[in-house]
Amino acid sequence: VNTNGNRRVGVWVIGARGSIGAAAAASHWLIERGGTPMTGLVTESLPFRGVDLLQWNGLLFGGCDVVDTPLIDKIRAHIDEGILPRSFPVDAKVLRAIDSRITNLAGAGGGSATPAMTALAAVRQAIRSFREDNGLERVIVVNCSSTLAQSAEERSISKSPSWPRMLARLPRLRSIPWGIVYAAAALEEQCAFINFTPNSGTDLPALADLARRQGMPHAGRDGKTGETLVKSVLAPLFSARAMHVLAWQGYNMLGNGDGHALSDPGARALKIKSKDQQLRAILGQNGDLHTQVSIDYVPSLGDWKTAWDFIHFEGFLGVRMAMQFTWQGCDTVLATPLILDLVRLVELAWRRGESGELRHLCSFFKSPIGCEEHDFRKQLDHLYNHLGAPHSSTM
Ligand SMILES: NC(=O)c1ccc[n+]([C@@H]2O[C@H](COP(=O)([O-])OP(=O)(O)OC[C@H]3O[C@@H](n4cnc5c(N)ncnc54)[C@H](O)[C@@H]3O)[C@@H](O)[C@H]2O)c1
Repeated sequence: VNTNGNRRVGVWVIGARGSIGAAAAASHWLIERGGTPMTGLVTESLPFRGVDLLQWNGLLFGGCDVVDTPLIDKIRAHIDEGILPRSFPVDAKVLRAIDSRITNLAGAGGGSATPAMTALAAVRQAIRSFREDNGLERVIVVNCSSTLAQSAEERSISKSPSWPRMLARLPRLRSIPWGIVYAAAALEEQCAFINFTPNSGTDLPALADLARRQGMPHAGRDGKTGETLVKSVLAPLFSARAMHVLAWQGYNMLGNGDGHALSDPGARALKIKSKDQQLRAILGQNGDLHTQVSIDYVPSLGDWKTAWDFIHFEGFLGVRMAMQFTWQGCDTVLATPLILDLVRLVELAWRRGESGELRHLCSFFKSPIGCEEHDFRKQLDHLYNHLGAPHSSTM
């Protein structure tokens, strides 16, 4: 077991003052202090015993955002809303220390003639300062920022086949393609990269190319935490029993910052695309499968996302049946431990000399990079096999 007690690995969270970003940094401190139940943390579960994961005190959190909300306010709001328990210790000194490692990048690129290049330089500088100021050996960059609609310019540059081609086009953009800028800055600075958002990242050929050139590991895209997770467990049941799914309708309501961001039609389209693609891959049906996912912003629900799914299917002799489920999850609580798990798993891969897309982490994502497998059980087998972890039924 790794006994690294020094804080050598930095975690630079993009969107560090957001719901997940704040909860991840604060709960990492709580875990490090000890005595916290490890429920929900995959890397603390039985199959990972004996895997050489970094100890919690080897990590140091920092990051960036475009707002200045002090972490203490965010954590108090989380406690008031029941996202964090009443017993969660609010240590002002600790939270101020994390605050001091979060850069506000709201002005990056603003008013500049080549805003994307200015933003890229500013992000690179912020990552470099984080590493140097804190004497860090390595930095893992995790994108937890808001889902942003893609501009036509971003869609067009996304098709660039290589990093040099994309880089040549960046100075001509009038707006900042934040997902691209963050991934590129991380890789240029020799950092591993995790994209927990549906925004563009190392799933783009040019950025995967940059990761290869830099020899950096990366994983994404869009964390699989709720309705999509249930679907990836449930859908294999229908194919295993040779039943024919006619329709799978999903309706999601959420009221947090993410829900607000997704009330923008462009951002919502990106999320829906990410949520909808797995069913056809698992069910192996073509043509006649009707699926639809919709998302509505319902402010009163706060972080408690409610998803209702309706599945219409055919059994023996074409007899039609239906099943429905309702998922009511606290989005931040579902996502936060996955950030901590992913950081440890990416760190391990990096330490083992692995680079490029980390396919074995596919179970964590809705749109796993470089992996066509969406069946959750098979995805988990892939993870256990890769790590040499003993198989264990965790489902
Ligand atoms: N909670 C889940 O279960 C879940 C699952 C999968 C994916 N995600 C994704 O994780 C992301 C974060 O979710 P959240 O609930 O913490 O959202 P949030 O709205 O609470 O936080 C997002 C943060 O990003 C910041 N931000 C916006 N634009 C930025 C930029 N250009 N640079 C840096 N920071 C920027 C915002 O100021 C905010 O602090 C979203 O993209 C969401 O879709 C969440």
